[in-house]
Amino acid sequence: MSKPAIILDCDPGHDDALAIIVAARHTDILGITTVSGNAPIESTTHNTLVMKDLLGLKVPVHQGAVRPIVAEPQYATYVHGESGLDGADLPAPTSTVDGTDAVGFIIDTVRANEGAWLVPTGPLTNIAMALRLAPDIAKRIAGISLMGGGTFGNRTTAAEFNIWVDPEAADIVYRYGGPLIMAGLHVTHQFRATQARIDKVKAMPGQLADVMGDLMQFFTNMYMSRHHGMDGGAVHDPLAVMVLTHPELFTRKNAHVVIELNGTHTRGMTLIDERDLREVKAGNCDVLMTVDAEAAFDVMSEAIAHFSR
Ligand code: BDR
Ligand code: CA
Repeated sequence: MSKPAIILDCDPGHDDALAIIVAARHTDILGITTVSGNAPIESTTHNTLVMKDLLGLKVPVHQGAVRPIVAEPQYATYVHGESGLDGADLPAPTSTVDGTDAVGFIIDTVRANEGAWLVPTGPLTNIAMALRLAPDIAKRIAGISLMGGGTFGNRTTAAEFNIWVDPEAADIVYRYGGPLIMAGLHVTHQFRATQARIDKVKAMPGQLADVMGDLMQFFTNMYMSRHHGMDGGAVHDPLAVMVLTHPELFTRKNAHVVIELNGTHTRGMTLIDERDLREVKAGNCDVLMTVDAEAAFDVMSEAIAHFSR
């Protein structure tokens, strides 16, 4: 299988950092765009540039949305720390961004590269704005593979963080009309950084393995301190990449999914219509249901080892 061409739109974030590593190993990255999410835009951009150095990546990085389309900005310091990437000694970035108009970059790059995938692993602000400003890109992309939503929430009872931060953007993306793949919490919680898996990464030689071992340890400690019954942090974001590069590791179900914008307790919920009724609308989304977590972790660990010098 040839490598899929992608634009990775992210808010690193520990699991976004791991998504960058898997993408660097198994996709043709046309560019990385950043968005306000786990931390303010300056931090998510800084963290992206750090990862670019650690991997020796030669891809453009464009800074994107400072805030959601309608909602006030919200961050996830309770999982990722103040910097968005707490827990390791990270080198200062050696480069600066290639631009501060991520939306323009997405539009131009999609027009110049028919058949690319958009892979958002943060709030959907940049992607929604690109679709709104340049509706022609909907037909030029292969599809959108995102991390977000699920059959349960994490930021609220009903809503997952990425969708909850910018529900209006998510609404635009879920209604865009082309192929859409969703890695929601019900699948990403199957993919956990258990202590045994973290220890394997820590035992690998090289700088990247050291850094990622420390980052995964911080992330898992945060998860285990917040949850009753989890044996490791849920490594959400790499799954949005891996479903394109290793589709055999997943099961999926096509369904009609809408975003709740107005509910008193449910704003930001992804409502997945699983009713067995003829009246149910045609599916707009491939909802990932299961992942072979052991095999997927091997793919991710091999990618870390590959870049760990
Ligand atoms: C999502 O929210 C962020 O904290 C993670 O990076 C992931 O993209 C999980 O709800
Ligand atoms: Ca993320």
